[in-house]
Amino acid sequence: MDFRDLVMERYSVRQCDTTREIPEEDMQLILDAAVQAPTACNNQPFRIYRIRSREMRERAEQWYNRAHFRTAREVLLIVGEDAAAYVYPDKENNSLYTDTAIAIAYMQLQAEDLGIGSVWINAFDRPLCARDMGLEMGRETPVALLALGYPLPDATRPTRKRKSMGDLVKTI
Ligand SMILES: Cc1cc2nc3c(=O)[nH]c(=O)nc-3n(C[C@H](O)[C@H](O)[C@H](O)COP(=O)(O)O)c2cc1C
Repeated sequence: MDFRDLVMERYSVRQCDTTREIPEEDMQLILDAAVQAPTACNNQPFRIYRIRSREMRERAEQWYNRAHFRTAREVLLIVGEDAAAYVYPDKENNSLYTDTAIAIAYMQLQAEDLGIGSVWINAFDRPLCARDMGLEMGRETPVALLALGYPLPDATRPTRKRKSMGDLVKTI
């Protein structure tokens, strides 16, 4: 897809076609988009868990208990590795959230290019997720869930509401 079309057509798909599986080769492309994404100092301070077992999927649905999430065909959990993130010169901040955000955005765009919808989920219960996953908070940070699946055949992209470029961009 033309890149401009990709940017304009992507939207958060919150109702997936539960009858349509995502081909494995497409999942590999989506995951590789995260592998190829840029990170500060090339540290790649994250891991991605593919939630495939019924048991872990049921647990994930407790972390984020929403009807739309239950329609996803694939669920990814992106976990930041705090010690691997690049520490900025102020010594107080690091690149963890920036790096993981870029990787997730790359995966969303790759998915869109394959006709696969996605929704980024941050409003999930992180302590519960960490407990179920055996993650040590502060060392391993659950950053986001990415839910993937084909939009329903009759789905239409919602009207997009955005601030104007003038509101967001200043030439100085
Ligand atoms: C950092 C981040 C966190 C988000 N968390 C959630 C979430 O928890 N649940 C949800 O339904 N959508 C979530 N979204 C999706 C946004 O609501 C959505 O991207 C935004 O409203 C713009 O709509 P669009 O993606 O359709 O263009 C999140 C998006 C981002 C980038």
